[in-house]
Amino acid sequence: MATNTFVDVMAVDELPLNRTKIVDANGKRLMLANDNGEIHAFSPYCTHDGGDLDGKTVEDHEVTCHRHGAKFDVRTGEATKMPAVFGLTSYETKVEDGRIYVAV
Ligand code: FES
Repeated sequence: MATNTFVDVMAVDELPLNRTKIVDANGKRLMLANDNGEIHAFSPYCTHDGGDLDGKTVEDHEVTCHRHGAKFDVRTGEATKMPAVFGLTSYETKVEDGRIYVAV
């Protein structure tokens, strides 16, 4: 069974509070979300029709896709508002020495 490796993706300081940002983790495009200082990582595209979730505001633990208004809980990736039905794929994260690492 393959094990995931933690990859250094950016400095914590580069991810503004309550915002999302796209990063490259070993060639995989991911969305980081800073939820009141808690860092989470997900697939970067809305599961409704592929809307890009880069640069969005995190509000009440949710990120909104601006194309048609779907919402996702950034603690779990779960879709919380239609038209999205399926959640975002989530990735394990950790913060060490001011850097964000994602397991890919
Ligand atoms: S593509 Fe995101 S709500 Fe439709």
